[in-house]
Amino acid sequence: MKLLGTGSALPRHCVTNDDLATFLDTNDEWISTRTGIRQRRVLTDETLQSLAERAARGAMENAGVTGEEIDFVLVSTVQAETLSPALACDIQAALGIKCMGIDINGGCTGFIAALSVAQGLIASGQARLILVVSAEALSRFADWTDRSTCVLFGDAAGAAVVGEGDGVEDIRFTGEPRRDVLCASTPPGNSPFAINPAPAQYLKMQGQEVYKFAVSHSFRDIRDMLADHDLQPENVDFYLLHQANMRILEAVRTRLKVEPERFPHNIERTGNTSSATIPVLLDELNRSGALKPGCRLILNAFGAGLCTGTALVTW
Ligand code: ACO
Repeated sequence: MKLLGTGSALPRHCVTNDDLATFLDTNDEWISTRTGIRQRRVLTDETLQSLAERAARGAMENAGVTGEEIDFVLVSTVQAETLSPALACDIQAALGIKCMGIDINGGCTGFIAALSVAQGLIASGQARLILVVSAEALSRFADWTDRSTCVLFGDAAGAAVVGEGDGVEDIRFTGEPRRDVLCASTPPGNSPFAINPAPAQYLKMQGQEVYKFAVSHSFRDIRDMLADHDLQPENVDFYLLHQANMRILEAVRTRLKVEPERFPHNIERTGNTSSATIPVLLDELNRSGALKPGCRLILNAFGAGLCTGTALVTW
């Protein structure tokens, strides 16, 4: 499988750290020094579906493919517009795509998980051209009264068209099930048979646990991927890591001993947009002209589960 084109979309509305300080007991200094985040985009009157459509359209135009040519749509999201149908179906309806479409919830690792599913579909001959979209509305997920979590998140969509080829060399995952560290729940429904249903709960997170997991696992996964392909850290042009915290990115980068230029980031502008962070960053790099044919990339994410995903890709 190879990547043929990318797209991305951010909501119009920008929320700065100073904006948050108008209704939370926080300040720009705390947020920016602990996380690197200075602003994030959040949905107001736009829908997640419209963001996903814009990102998907951009990826299809960039790849030079039409809706009729796409034969599978995979969407990664932790919270689609509706529980049913899948967000993939809404994107198909908007873009004139008629094929199977499904949503995947792999937490922040969702984009790499969707790439892996796409690779399997292509390898088994079930699809030739696949639209992969990561669309996330964490502003609906976060508790806006909890300063320890809501300041971290933003909304975004990123997309890629993938097809047959040999650009994606390796994809791997790890998992260590721990729901206590990072968890949010859906409404309990109104079944008359449910006994003491748990009420809906906004995102709850043990920040320091996630931090330690992210740094140790991202470094380990990247180191192992490099070693297994006889690569040195400097043989990779760009490391595209899940944008959750600038300090996590810096800790992994310094352990790998690579220059800052190889660790592009946009977290200062976008915040953590879950599975959308990597495809949005990829699209920004692509459109800036930084990705030359033959560029070697490592994608790496950690997320709810807890799980991690790593991909070795040649552009
Ligand atoms: N503004 C001001 N003070 C705050 C804020 C805030 N926004 N949030 C917390 N504080 C306070 C706390 O109340 C605490 O005060 P206290 O000492 O009086 O009790 C103090 O700051 C320190 O709080 P900690 O939680 O210990 O702060 P920490 O240094 O761990 O930073 C953070 C918190 C930024 C969340 C960090 O732990 C982190 O980034 N962890 C990783 C989180 C992450 O990446 N999550 C990913 C989310 S989902 C995903 O992408 C998979």
